[in-house]
Amino acid sequence: MALFSRVSGSVGLITLQNPPVNALSAAVRQGIVDSVKRALSDPEVKSVVICGENGVFCGGADIKEFGGNMSGPPLIPMIHAIEAANKPVVAAIEGSALGGGLELALGCHYRIAHSKARLGLPEVSLGLLPAAGGTQRLPRLIGVPAALDLITTGRHITAAEALQLGIVDQVTKQSTVNAAVNFALNVAEKPLDARRISTFPCPHSSDLDALFEEAMQKVQKSARGAIAPVACVQAVRAAATQPYNQGMEREKELMATLFTSGQARALQYCFFAQRAVGKWRMPNGACWDTSKPRPVHKVAVIGLGTMGRGILVALAQTGLSVVAVETQEMQLMEAKQAVSGMLERGAKRRGVVPTLHNITYSQNIKSVAEVDLVIEAVFEDMALKEKVFQQLSAVCKPGTFLCTNTSALDIDHLASQTGNPELVVGMHFFAPAHVMKLLEVVYGPRSSPQAVATAMHLGKKMGKIGVAVGNCRGFVGNRMLKPYIEQAFFLLEEGGTPEKIDQALEEFGFPMGVFKMSDLSGLDIGWRVRKGDGLAESSAASQQSPRIRDGRRYSPLGDLLCEQGRFGQKTGHGWYQYDKPGSQLARSDPWLHSFLEGYRAQHGLVARRIDQQEVLERCLYVLINEGFRILEDGIASGPEDIDIIYVFGYGWPRHRGGPMFYAGMVGLAKVLERLEHYHQAHPDVPYLQPCSLLRRLVASGSPPVNTWKEVIKKVRSQL
Ligand code: NAI
Repeated sequence: MALFSRVSGSVGLITLQNPPVNALSAAVRQGIVDSVKRALSDPEVKSVVICGENGVFCGGADIKEFGGNMSGPPLIPMIHAIEAANKPVVAAIEGSALGGGLELALGCHYRIAHSKARLGLPEVSLGLLPAAGGTQRLPRLIGVPAALDLITTGRHITAAEALQLGIVDQVTKQSTVNAAVNFALNVAEKPLDARRISTFPCPHSSDLDALFEEAMQKVQKSARGAIAPVACVQAVRAAATQPYNQGMEREKELMATLFTSGQARALQYCFFAQRAVGKWRMPNGACWDTSKPRPVHKVAVIGLGTMGRGILVALAQTGLSVVAVETQEMQLMEAKQAVSGMLERGAKRRGVVPTLHNITYSQNIKSVAEVDLVIEAVFEDMALKEKVFQQLSAVCKPGTFLCTNTSALDIDHLASQTGNPELVVGMHFFAPAHVMKLLEVVYGPRSSPQAVATAMHLGKKMGKIGVAVGNCRGFVGNRMLKPYIEQAFFLLEEGGTPEKIDQALEEFGFPMGVFKMSDLSGLDIGWRVRKGDGLAESSAASQQSPRIRDGRRYSPLGDLLCEQGRFGQKTGHGWYQYDKPGSQLARSDPWLHSFLEGYRAQHGLVARRIDQQEVLERCLYVLINEGFRILEDGIASGPEDIDIIYVFGYGWPRHRGGPMFYAGMVGLAKVLERLEHYHQAHPDVPYLQPCSLLRRLVASGSPPVNTWKEVIKKVRSQL
């Protein structure tokens, strides 16, 4: 809805009303159309102000309308009518003017913003472009380079930046509506010809072709296959090179392509999935809206290595008071220096004061006695973690939540080391922990809903996207990664190279292929785990065939590299070579290629040509198959949980929606058929055997991803 009133005698005030963000629903658009007509036909009204109710101008289109048939007046003619009005129209921007909201404001003749307002055209993040004239008006108003930046990144800007760019005419710290009404009184009856942005010529830079060439290369590099940023550049190019009406036609055409593309659907799915994971539910029925978090004022981090430091920074940045414990004196000093540096640099970037004084460093675990929650991040060693949990249980005040950052170990076993297992949950952060958005909150069978709620709430405070998952080896993310990496090793044995396999995965949209990722995180991590599991044995000492473990195919390639001291970037050699230890630029390594040739010769393997399709099908479908097993086991409560974990923690391209959504896009029947095909070819690889949930979903007609939860419930009730 939109409410019309007359204020200060001659100003028509149109107030958008659609909580929480006054999205441009059909009713709001109808309200605007009616109110504008009324204002223009009322001789008492000399100028108009458009504002939003409850301190928000307008959050943009109503994304819920995207799926169905649009009803109500369309946005473009509505904005044109405002721009063509013969009375000045002023946008009073409070809170936010985003997407269609900013396009509406650009149709007005003047824009007044509150100093705390945020503006932006974020459509690109939903796989779309600003298609209500945004790509045509913004470059005409602020020039091509600035418009390209805002439209292709979708970034939100402050009112101050909007003023500097010329998007708004005035910024106020007082009431925006009052300022806009006064402004409207002053400009009433002033000529409007120079205020209609669509009539402006687009400011030209000297070499337009070079500018767009550079912009296109930049977005293609960062988009990793996403088509919306490319379409945004094409639309802005139309603004710069064609008359307004033709530019609008181009905008429409490009939008139609994006709208029907699978990518827009995937990105919109991610948008809703991100919200859905906040509404967590445990198998016992406990859930987000019935489980209240306990207040947390003071937190402890135990172990200040790679992860502990990042977690400490993220905690200190929330303003919480933190106790940081590390046993090694040297490590403690280094951590203190590193954490202070990270906090200072972060504060400088954000223009705030660093929160160094919130942290107390200690070598004594007893200093955590008064904290409300502990996050343990010591070495991934069960015996050590057991000891730490026993100590924590003894020294912490009653009721302290005990959380572990383990990447794979059994949460329930750790809980059993304490007097109050219900207070124990996993808080699995991702490296670097002060940057990466994902947090897996892992509940064991005895974790209380309050412990889960508190960990989720703390994660949110730290700026993380928390996903609550059940306890199993590797939880969700790392459990699915295992068969993915295993397939990559097998592909090497069969004739692939790290370069070709990585290239296929990077072209799919991962920022880094599996081997580059492995070099970055360190090959020794997996080696230690495999040794712990009795899989990796020194080739000399081994009694069994190096390529078989418990009757299953096994690839010792990773172990053999580690035996050579090739741990990846940190040692300067891994699957690739680096200029020096710690360098990041991966270069092809002839040593590795002859090593692979020798390995194949030794084991009688004949290299064959492996195409990109096989790489993608084997690596991705096996990962998806494990995702279905996770759903079947009830470790994740729905496909959205898995997809958000993969998009925010593992670099799965967002425009492909996450592995489970992607499986639906490919077609579940096709995924099943290909898995069956590869399992037949490799019967000694159990991960390739299609899981029964996948079979059930295909048998029930491959329902859309948003209905899987119901099917899973049925399957689980029949087990
Ligand atoms: P790290 O080796 O960098 O650091 C571990 C730190 O714990 C060392 O500084 C060590 O001195 C300290 N420590 C050992 N015993 C201690 C004790 N009793 N009290 C206090 N401090 C003690 O290890 P990293 O990589 O930080 O891993 C820590 C945990 O986080 C592990 O459980 C790991 O699996 C998990 N993790 C690691 C990720 C990664 O990418 N490195 C990602 C997610 C989880």
